[in-house]
Amino acid sequence: MAAGWEIRPEEPGDAGAVLALDNDAFGPGRHAKSAYRLREGVQPVSELGFVAVENAELVGSVRFWPIAVGDASSLLLGPLAVKQGLRGRGIGIDLMRRGIERARVLGHASIILVGDEPYYARVGFAKLPRGSVRFPGPVDPARILGLGLQKEALENLRGDVRRARIDDPVCAAGAAVAPAKV
Ligand SMILES: CC(C)(COP(=O)(O)OP(=O)(O)OC[C@H]1O[C@@H](n2cnc3c(N)ncnc32)[C@H](O)[C@@H]1OP(=O)(O)O)[C@@H](O)C(=O)NCCC(=O)NCCS
Repeated sequence: MAAGWEIRPEEPGDAGAVLALDNDAFGPGRHAKSAYRLREGVQPVSELGFVAVENAELVGSVRFWPIAVGDASSLLLGPLAVKQGLRGRGIGIDLMRRGIERARVLGHASIILVGDEPYYARVGFAKLPRGSVRFPGPVDPARILGLGLQKEALENLRGDVRRARIDDPVCAAGAAVAPAKV
């Protein structure tokens, strides 16, 4: 039987529904996680956001963030979320496959994430050598996974993970800093 959902690129008008989905899947505590520090003040890669739509409702989402690992550019996968009650049907895998495929076409070298290896191995992720890639905060090394999109990209991935760029500077309290007037 054909899948009842459609995967399509995320559009600007989807932002509210994606936020609601992520809030529901991860809760407000997610912002304290190490991976979120890498997303603070940075916009996701717009060409790599995908959503799953079923019966005109947004039921799943995946995004990728631009990061640097040592001297290399890479991508951070996540958040990946599927609406409760609709999980376990393949939507999550379908979303990731679309994103990964597009990232490959766009010439990205690698993707990393923090997550459960048995799940992400289904789309090709594997544990990275312990200590090779260091996140800015406490992360279980066994959950640091990577996928190479270009030859040797993963083998050469080494060092501290940091934001590839900062789009919206934020002050310590989290409020956006107004651009300086000139
Ligand atoms: C993780 C999540 C995105 C998976 O989406 P999904 O649409 O249910 O996933 P799929 O249907 O594509 O895959 C389901 C399969 O993966 C397995 N699976 C799901 N989570 C798993 C995990 N953490 N470890 C191992 N296997 C897992 C399921 O058992 C199922 O196996 P089956 O096909 O043998 O029945 C969804 O459960 C979710 O939104 N969870 C809350 C948010 C979250 O934890 N996101 C991941 C961290 S970024």
